[in-house]
Amino acid sequence: MNKREMVIVLDFGGQYNQLVARRVRECSVYCEIYSYKTDIARIKEMAPKGIILTGGPNSCYEEGAPTYSRELFELGIPVLGLCYGAQLMQHILGGKVERAEKREYGKTEITVNTDCALFQGVQEHTTCWMSHFDYISRLADGFVSVGHSADCPVAACENTDRALYGIQFHPEVLHTPEGTKMLYNFVRGICGCKGDWKMDAFVEQSVKAIREKVGDGKVLCALSGGVDSSVAAVLLSKAVGDQLTCVFVDHGLLRKNEGDEVEAVFGSSGNYDLHFIRVNAQQRFYDKLAGVTEPERKRKIIGEEFIRVFEEEAKKIGAVDFLVQGTIYPDVVESGLGGESAVIKSHHNVGGLPDYVDFKEIIEPLRDLFKDEVRKVGLELGLPEYLVFRQPFPGPGLGIRIIGEVTEEKVRIVQDADFIYREEIAKAGLDKEISQYFAALTNMRSVGVMGDERTYDYAVALRAVKTVDFMTAESAEIPYEVLNRVMNRIINEVRGVNRVLYDLTSKPPGTIELE
Ligand code: XMP
Repeated sequence: MNKREMVIVLDFGGQYNQLVARRVRECSVYCEIYSYKTDIARIKEMAPKGIILTGGPNSCYEEGAPTYSRELFELGIPVLGLCYGAQLMQHILGGKVERAEKREYGKTEITVNTDCALFQGVQEHTTCWMSHFDYISRLADGFVSVGHSADCPVAACENTDRALYGIQFHPEVLHTPEGTKMLYNFVRGICGCKGDWKMDAFVEQSVKAIREKVGDGKVLCALSGGVDSSVAAVLLSKAVGDQLTCVFVDHGLLRKNEGDEVEAVFGSSGNYDLHFIRVNAQQRFYDKLAGVTEPERKRKIIGEEFIRVFEEEAKKIGAVDFLVQGTIYPDVVESGLGGESAVIKSHHNVGGLPDYVDFKEIIEPLRDLFKDEVRKVGLELGLPEYLVFRQPFPGPGLGIRIIGEVTEEKVRIVQDADFIYREEIAKAGLDKEISQYFAALTNMRSVGVMGDERTYDYAVALRAVKTVDFMTAESAEIPYEVLNRVMNRIINEVRGVNRVLYDLTSKPPGTIELE
């Protein structure tokens, strides 16, 4: 395989490390994240076109703080230090870093030298996001300051002879409006990258690589209808056609019409030349879940039953050569920086499949991609937009959006309510703004009146959150009139519901799902 140009991010524990890599990739340059503990020999072997050192929570002058050998700056490869990375570069090369009297935090105006290659096309007075206690009080030999703020004499510095750059702020966050331009200047200008990381090229190269690897082997893919497994399946299908079998388990806990939608795309009337097996296992799951109310038990039962169903199908197919997994880059990063021996996460729609299926090797065609890149590949491959931009949906499905016991009747109620909610949110044009939204069925029944009749029915809870990383979230502000419309329609159209509630809880203390 021809070597693609790459920039590496050395992670010093900053909270934005993945964001740095994503921004670099937005400049059409492939970028990978490695721990600061990565050996210099490994870095030399990778021969990156540039190195970016991230921020981090430590003080570089403290004993035991993350560091790197001086040799990193002597490789002749351009280096850009961000925040902690900038301070560390100075500390190692002979500059001085000290604790400032006051912390500089938040949006800050800085003045930059626009002759500096890093700031080409950037306004002289620009806004950036600062978050630091320490500051560079003396520059190492060969460096000059190319940016300052009211409180920070060295907001940016350079040593052009050695292509070493440091900036005290975070160009990767949106609070630094010209940050991506600065990263672009570094990777495309200073590092001289041509910008060959494009999703159409990715598809072409992946198809070629998959064909070479698979030969005339048999490939099996567990398809959930989620973005990752759908894109992985289509990529495989494009590469090896009917050597691929996709097994889609309908556990009866999908959103309304979802099973049919997945079948319409991948089944015999769809566009792909693959073997598609839909397993209608709804009743099996309902039987197993009967009488079970404890959330963790429900999750376990759904996960285990899923594996059992999949295993039965796999046995019918017999031994396969390759099993496809929809692992994506954040999974690789989170399961141990460095990717040397990245553990395959089992949360991917299914739990621990590889132990149960007779296969020789795993193929993970999306393991280098961020989610937004997976979506681009999906569009490139002609997948319908509603599939590509589908919001996250948990593996256990509606099983964890029905509080208490799951029954077929409750599944129907939550499916219908959720369908109305999604329809109205889309009609109001809010679907792009909200990260995740759904209806859930509380296990509460209450008294109401409809017509002249007393009712004693369920309460549906509407949830909508805004989040970047799904680790924390805020409830979304949905206009009252939209909520009102949703409430009216649910009460009128969904049998068994007489009350609609809006869940205002943020995460923490709440989680996004209700169970
Ligand atoms: P919570 O409820 O933990 O959800 O705040 C955070 C994000 O993860 C999704 N989620 C899951 N996804 N299997 C999955 O594949 C699961 O068991 C699961 N539980 C939660 C949830 O939808 C949200 O996006």
